[in-house]
Amino acid sequence: MLLFSTSLILAGLAAAQSEWGQCGGIGWTGGTTCPSGWTCVAQNPYYSQCLQSTGSSSIGTTGTVSSTASTSVVGTTTTSSPTSTATLTGIAASAPTIGPSKAVGKLPALGWNAWNAYGCNINEDKILAAANQFISLGLADVGYEYINIDDCWSEMQRDPSTGRIVPDPSKFPNGISGVADQVHALGLKFGIYSDAGTATCAGFPGSLGNELLDATTFAEWGVDYLKYDNCNVPGNWSDSGTPPGGDWYNSNSAIRYRQMTAALNETGRPFQFNLCIWGAANVWDWGARVGHSWRMSGDSSASWGYITNILTTNVQHLSSIDFYSHNDMDMMEIGNGDLTIQEQRTHFAVWSFLKSPILLGTDLSQLNSTQLSIIKNAELIAFHQDPNVGGPASPFTPTPSASSTSPPEFYAGQSSKGIHVFIVNTGSATASKTFNFANVPGLGTGSFLVHDMWAGTDVGKFTDSYTISVEAHDTAALFISPA
Ligand code: GAL
Repeated sequence: MLLFSTSLILAGLAAAQSEWGQCGGIGWTGGTTCPSGWTCVAQNPYYSQCLQSTGSSSIGTTGTVSSTASTSVVGTTTTSSPTSTATLTGIAASAPTIGPSKAVGKLPALGWNAWNAYGCNINEDKILAAANQFISLGLADVGYEYINIDDCWSEMQRDPSTGRIVPDPSKFPNGISGVADQVHALGLKFGIYSDAGTATCAGFPGSLGNELLDATTFAEWGVDYLKYDNCNVPGNWSDSGTPPGGDWYNSNSAIRYRQMTAALNETGRPFQFNLCIWGAANVWDWGARVGHSWRMSGDSSASWGYITNILTTNVQHLSSIDFYSHNDMDMMEIGNGDLTIQEQRTHFAVWSFLKSPILLGTDLSQLNSTQLSIIKNAELIAFHQDPNVGGPASPFTPTPSASSTSPPEFYAGQSSKGIHVFIVNTGSATASKTFNFANVPGLGTGSFLVHDMWAGTDVGKFTDSYTISVEAHDTAALFISPA
């Protein structure tokens, strides 16, 4: 049994230098040192993690892979084929090509996940408290739906006779199905976590080689959502060089995830499937053929630097975003750390207008009324959850003479209502921001009514251009309609 210190509770708050936390990898800007007795170990170029210097049994174990689940199509799942026409050899030739369920996951998920709030320090009470707060705080009413457990929910060993993963009875005395039943009784959905390697990032059993058994177990428990991590991958399942046919759908990484897609399909239960692959293996090119959403980066932190970094990364891959196809900017940090209210507004606005899954990641009972009004903003949620428009807002040049910035500050996007403009002030002082209506894709020239989506009020009628003062690190959210 592993020992967890209370510092782990803060894993998501500091996001680095915590036990099991991220401490390096491509794009990582957080801390790189680990607590005493823990060592920063590279999992792959994208993810280094603080692991116990001794006594960590899971790293470097080899895994064998079971036969893949059959590729028969049941009910709600569609088939998908690789785009490559090259002749495939080895595991790529026989890997399943079943796509994710179309019964769920059309729109980006709205929910809560335990990791940023509690790290490994989870139990039934904390999960059910979040579920009950979805009801009492009115979050369910505005669309929040998924209550998701992250790492550290099971025993360290599978059941020796059945081979199944066993819920930790000290954390979940009623099992996982007991929690799922109570979450369902509130009208919500329930998510769980596993790993496309031999062990999870915190050293608990992973699903590589046991995909069908684990998917079947999760289905029997009533699980609706699977977050599937990428730690402890045996060398023969890692990628080196360009995959067969030059298509990363045929990479070993993708095939590890494809095996779970097929296994989930085999259960006949619709699962929303999240690939926690940290932006590795060009996932944005093939993620929609395998799951509903995919992580674009290492772990979030409650910092302005994280928000601007992930925004800079994600704007390069906006063409991957559509119905059933969502770039995951990672779980929310609203309520954690020292983010200013303006930064928390930007966090929520950006995740909304780029249609990332929004999984709240804090102790909901600690949120103040300003924070609650941010995460319950009906107009931003309507943009995020638009049933008729799958694409995100995209950067535009606000005036002919404007110079470009990184990340971009001006975004325009379509909703069922019409055209929206979002302006992120990346500077550290209040600034005046101007755009010409003619520069906004889809608007044209003339006079327009400007509506403030945060306040829910009309600002007034303007001709040719609009100028607004935006506080440091804040985001203006506007709906623009012909006057
Ligand atoms: C990381 C993942 C985090 C969290 C953690 C659990 O790989 O990116 O979101 O799930 O593992 O150990």
